Amino acid sequence: MANSINRRSWIKSTAILAGGTAFFSGAITKLAAMPKKIQQSVLNDRFADKAAVLNSPPVMKARLLANENPFGPSATVKKAIQQSLDSSYQYPFMHMKELTGKIAAYEGVQESNLLMDAGSSPILLASAMFYGKGGAEIITADPSYNSLPSDAAALGATWVKVPLTADYKLDLDAMEAKITAKTGLVYICNPNNPTGTVLDTEKLKAFCERVSKKVPVFVDEAYIDYLPDPQAASMISLVKAGHNIIVARTFSKLYGFAGLRCGYVIAQPEAVKDLMKYSVGNMSISAPTVAAAIAGYQEKAFLQDALKKTLASKEFLYTVLKKEGYDYIPSSANFVMFQIRMEGSRFASEMSNRGVGVRFWKFNDKDWCRVSIGTMEEMQLFADAFKQIS
Ligand SMILES: Cc1ncc(COP(=O)(O)O)c(C=O)c1O
Repeated sequence: MANSINRRSWIKSTAILAGGTAFFSGAITKLAAMPKKIQQSVLNDRFADKAAVLNSPPVMKARLLANENPFGPSATVKKAIQQSLDSSYQYPFMHMKELTGKIAAYEGVQESNLLMDAGSSPILLASAMFYGKGGAEIITADPSYNSLPSDAAALGATWVKVPLTADYKLDLDAMEAKITAKTGLVYICNPNNPTGTVLDTEKLKAFCERVSKKVPVFVDEAYIDYLPDPQAASMISLVKAGHNIIVARTFSKLYGFAGLRCGYVIAQPEAVKDLMKYSVGNMSISAPTVAAAIAGYQEKAFLQDALKKTLASKEFLYTVLKKEGYDYIPSSANFVMFQIRMEGSRFASEMSNRGVGVRFWKFNDKDWCRVSIGTMEEMQLFADAFKQIS
């Protein structure tokens, strides 16, 4: 009895912490069944990394810390959300079918290849649970997006971190060399968060083809929509060719859906079935979000416009950094990483005191700032604050 009350209050507090959204809903059921110690360590780890985001004031002059797209969602999407409200007392089963059909048709896959959830985060967590089972090794680049490996490590997996190459790209050869009989998954983030670097498509394809014969390869393509030809750069073609590759996509970035929560993976039907055991899937996605995603999926004019504005803001940022004498890593995504000349947390709090939210990292024994690309006004605010402390 006491246990079930604790469990219920844990679920409730988790939901509140996540902003009352379905952020973790894809995994709550399974997490709730875990021993308390593990639940806590999963959450602590996630929140430690996201502290800058979760503790940020609700109103910030320039919110450049979570790689969101301030140009979205589109007008079409907002209209679809409004129109969906009257029938939002109904479960969106049929609409969900329309959405999965649309995505599967565009990508040329079967619906059995597709698993959707409230953002890609719940599926990353499901993957951490499934592929990290039994203390398996999860190989990632370092630094890279750490959601999946840190959750896996909190649940008992071994996180094998492989440094980047000298030009801040994923070191595929070194990652491949780390594969052992205990490897459960290789996680590739392309373009990589937080460096914004992108791998050569043919080199990555060859790597995935080879490596996936030994262990599954997870390719997180959260930022692929920022590349000139996302379909050509995607590893979905290898899923279609039958390789054991799991490709994750999200509507949170170029589509501007971070607060709406919609994402998916495309993988072999067996892998989809495995991950379904650890996620709630379709039932996590709200009717307004389903309507939004149907209306906005591949809305070319909006996507191209958001991309154009992002590129203009990014060029402006490059000019500011150059003028102040700072080097940066050229980015293929909606954020830029550059080396700073003071301790990272101090830099972030100096910027925050000036109303500008950014993130900081330490690697190669150096301090780095990652700044997301916002509107031109936000980049100007960044520039004004940065000039004061640089
Ligand atoms: C590489 C990468 N993958 C996945 C996510 C999670 O995105 P979401 O859960 O909003 O789909 C993020 C969020 O920043 C990310 O940077």
